[in-house]
Amino acid sequence: MDIEQTLKTPQHQRYQPRKPTESEWDILEETLRLNRAYIPHAPTQQQAWFLALSEQEIMYGGAAGGGKTNALLMAALQYVHVPSYSAIVFRRSYTDLELPDALIPRSKDWLTGKAKWRGDKYEWEFPSGATLTFGYISSENDKYRYQGAQFQFIGFDELTHFSETQYRYLFSRLRRLEESYVPLRMRGASNPGGIGHEWVKQRFITEGAKEGRLFIPASLWDNPYLDREEYVQSLMNLDPTTRAQLLNGDWTAREAGSVFRREWFSYVSSIPSGLTGCRYWDLAATAPKAGTDPDYTCGVLLGIKDGIYYVADVVRFRGTPADVEKKIRQTAIVDRERPEFRSIEIRIEEEKGQAGISLASHYSRNILRGFNFRSHKITGDKEVRANPVSASAQMGNVALFNGAWLTDFLDELESFPNGSHNDQVDGLSGSHEVLSSIPNKPISISFGRRPS
Ligand SMILES: Nc1ncnc2c1ncn2[C@@H]1O[C@H](COP(=O)(O)OP(=O)(O)OP(=O)(O)O)[C@@H](O)[C@H]1O
Ligand SMILES: [Mg+2]
Repeated sequence: MDIEQTLKTPQHQRYQPRKPTESEWDILEETLRLNRAYIPHAPTQQQAWFLALSEQEIMYGGAAGGGKTNALLMAALQYVHVPSYSAIVFRRSYTDLELPDALIPRSKDWLTGKAKWRGDKYEWEFPSGATLTFGYISSENDKYRYQGAQFQFIGFDELTHFSETQYRYLFSRLRRLEESYVPLRMRGASNPGGIGHEWVKQRFITEGAKEGRLFIPASLWDNPYLDREEYVQSLMNLDPTTRAQLLNGDWTAREAGSVFRREWFSYVSSIPSGLTGCRYWDLAATAPKAGTDPDYTCGVLLGIKDGIYYVADVVRFRGTPADVEKKIRQTAIVDRERPEFRSIEIRIEEEKGQAGISLASHYSRNILRGFNFRSHKITGDKEVRANPVSASAQMGNVALFNGAWLTDFLDELESFPNGSHNDQVDGLSGSHEVLSSIPNKPISISFGRRPS
């Protein structure tokens, strides 16, 4: 991929929104002046438009590193000089908010010593009495956590990670302060991709200005403060469509074959020995019923050696919980005898909540006792989780053993994320995540065989 060339294509310009009016520029200048103590950066041109335009709904979208998160934080702080102003900015989880360089650490860089941080509430309180809160909406019902609250600014970072119902519910929390000029603003920032890609595109690009909603494209060129190398690194985590169209702000629909393509893989009729492995199980949510298209239980066995991943085996079936237990144990016994592997970690994707914990404990005490087993808590949606292994495959680092399962496996991979099942993709993403987190040295727990 010629990154320089792609970056230079100014296609994103066709989405430029209307220009701010004189009075909008005046208000921007005034609010930045009043809150200079809290907003340490001068906005770039695209950020300035995002801050100045007064439509109720605006989305700042485009490639990694365009300065979107910064813009969102600046926007939230624009009125903190006003007593009783309240702003909230969401991500899917507190973990997402607290990652290095995510919103909370960034707000601490900007605000420590100038506003009061109330860690228990994830909230800044300003000398005026205004507040800026960080919130999360992880499950669909989490949106009700904000019932009863009122905000004049609601921001969503990585908007495509949310569902449209979560986003729309929050409109009910957007309330004007009495006798105040503070505008009501819903603001989103996002890369393309993610579970919400389609609704975000529909809402802001397809309907967009007709419905009074603005879309501001972000591109690397708009952000002179970004480190190019770091940027290229972040590309590796994007799906190939986004990677290929990166800074164009081009939200063209994702097509089948956009996450995995069969020509990216190499095919082998034998796998090398000395592999470090992981058998990763995605369990079907419900037992099969006649006349439906139920989920499969699927376990993908992935190995790694010298930086190349090998998909060695895929087991996939439908069955009752008892069938599943039996098959998982049998597979563990068969895997233990595989001569190419010096160790195999077994993981089961852990469902949220108590049921997931109980199931994991049942497997570790009864079904897989004596095996190197743990359950695996997952974060992020399926598409986001598939991105690292998609990037590895695109770089030519994933080989597939030519097993009987191969055709089904490739069909599912190519239809992802639009296909009817994604258990094999989950198994592949999960095992890749486990193996890529293991340091590059022989792991200590094996089946009693010494590494050769
Ligand atoms: N106006 C600005 N002045 C100075 N630095 C800025 C400005 N805008 C952004 N930056 C810096 O550029 C880097 C990227 O910005 P930011 O994280 O806001 O981009 P992003 O579009 O949210 O990226 P991602 O897609 O990775 O979430 C950050 O280090 C940020 O501090
Ligand atoms: Mg960001």
